[in-house]
Amino acid sequence: FNVPVAVNEPVKSYAPGSPEREAVLKAYKEMFNSQVDVPMYINGKDVRTGNTRTMSPPHDHKHIVGTFHLAEKSHVEEAIATALEARKSWSQMPWEQRAGIFLKAAELIAGPYRAKINAATMIAQSKTVHQAEIDAACELIDFLRFNVQFMTDIYMEQPESTSDAWNRVEYRPLEGFTYAVTPFNFTAIAGNLPSCMALMGNVVVWKPSNNQIYSAKIIMDVFKEAGVPDGVINVVFGNPGMITDTVMANPHFSGLHYTGSTPVFQNLWKQIGNNIENYKTYPRIVGETGGKDFIVAHKSANAKQVATAISRGAFEFQGQKCSAASRAYIPNNIWEDVKKYVIADVKSFKMGSPEDLGNFVTAVINEGSFDKLAKYIDEAKAASDAEVIAGGGYDKSKGYFIEPTVIVTTNPKYDTMCTELFGPVITIYVYDENKFSETLKLVDETSEYALTGAILSTCRYAIVEATEALQNSAGNFYINDKPTGAVVGQQPFGGARASGTNDKAGSAQNLMRWVSPRMIKETF
Ligand code: ALA
Repeated sequence: FNVPVAVNEPVKSYAPGSPEREAVLKAYKEMFNSQVDVPMYINGKDVRTGNTRTMSPPHDHKHIVGTFHLAEKSHVEEAIATALEARKSWSQMPWEQRAGIFLKAAELIAGPYRAKINAATMIAQSKTVHQAEIDAACELIDFLRFNVQFMTDIYMEQPESTSDAWNRVEYRPLEGFTYAVTPFNFTAIAGNLPSCMALMGNVVVWKPSNNQIYSAKIIMDVFKEAGVPDGVINVVFGNPGMITDTVMANPHFSGLHYTGSTPVFQNLWKQIGNNIENYKTYPRIVGETGGKDFIVAHKSANAKQVATAISRGAFEFQGQKCSAASRAYIPNNIWEDVKKYVIADVKSFKMGSPEDLGNFVTAVINEGSFDKLAKYIDEAKAASDAEVIAGGGYDKSKGYFIEPTVIVTTNPKYDTMCTELFGPVITIYVYDENKFSETLKLVDETSEYALTGAILSTCRYAIVEATEALQNSAGNFYINDKPTGAVVGQQPFGGARASGTNDKAGSAQNLMRWVSPRMIKETF
């Protein structure tokens, strides 16, 4: 199994005068000012239904950058039929050919499509250029490269044989078709979910979030140019309920790869359960859902380091990461210093359009998200057991702008200490420095989700105690760092409890879910 050694794509700087800066600003300008008409993509053909919706940048919501076409039930049925037809040859294709296609896709993004995919992510998902570069370029490239390596790791895993019995395992794709449902917040996740299933020989119906259509289009352009055959990955847009109902009513549905909210995932799971007798094979279910990710500081922690973990962990990409820090537990001995540094950080963050590369904070994804966040901020301002100590402003006149906001509460079970908000708001509980063990217990008890978490401490004993006490509270646990920013090939990512099935994205374990091994014993 000789494949290129996967290496992480280096993150470009976008420093003034750099060629990447010029290229992305040029792409941004052109794409912002032209009207793109995004078709669905079924059986290798662009499909336009005439039933369209407009796309607007969250930071400039009155401006229209294009339209996309919505599916009728018949389009979803066609996507399924087409996928099943394509499966006949795709599932038999030598793995090297499939690997070659997706390695080519990685290089297309690294090169000619880099500025475009970053600009689409900046325009329609309101990421800053640095966030777009880390996500839409580097992380997606990494997924594509490392998945090829993980695939070969799986294929190499073979049982022992003897001279008269040859035991071998064939890692076949699932029988039927798979369904990818992807979120707005990471272009890399949107690209990874359908492509990792396809890499393992599966065929896919892919429904991207209606808030991520622009970069989804670029991903599909890349896959097409890289040589993904017609029908292997089919993209449908529109009404999630109708699309899901149509997919799940089909007896050949064989796997769900989902990233998004917890309630939606739970409903999908129920729907699969209700249909279970109709399926030819038990569908695989892999989901990465919400988070209420924590930072715990020990009394020995460095206040500046804690403050940086809070402000980077909570406010990068406006807190719209499932991994974002959204609650923190800080001991009273370092609190005044942490507070001073966090307030200074928040004041230093410039807010505005991603087109101005100096901005650190842009808009949240849509009006629904804006209204929900504004409501929680207002409630905290009025509450007797909470106080807003930084930020707290919001304005949706041009874009959905919410200031990075820090709430401090005296109630460790205050609403925003427990509820996932998915925005630039963190809530802090200040605890008695002598009650570290009790605080760890409290963190675990209030971890309905278990995605990411961090302990900051210069005391090794405290680190060990937290690592033990919080062993089920986070699937990705960070020591002396922020709880975000997992890198493919370095920190496989995912969590349990209400955060998902913990089938780590960016690992062989995840790819194993998309194969149905056949054991062959041949005797001589
Ligand atoms: N993989 C992303 C992170 O770790 C979600 O922040």
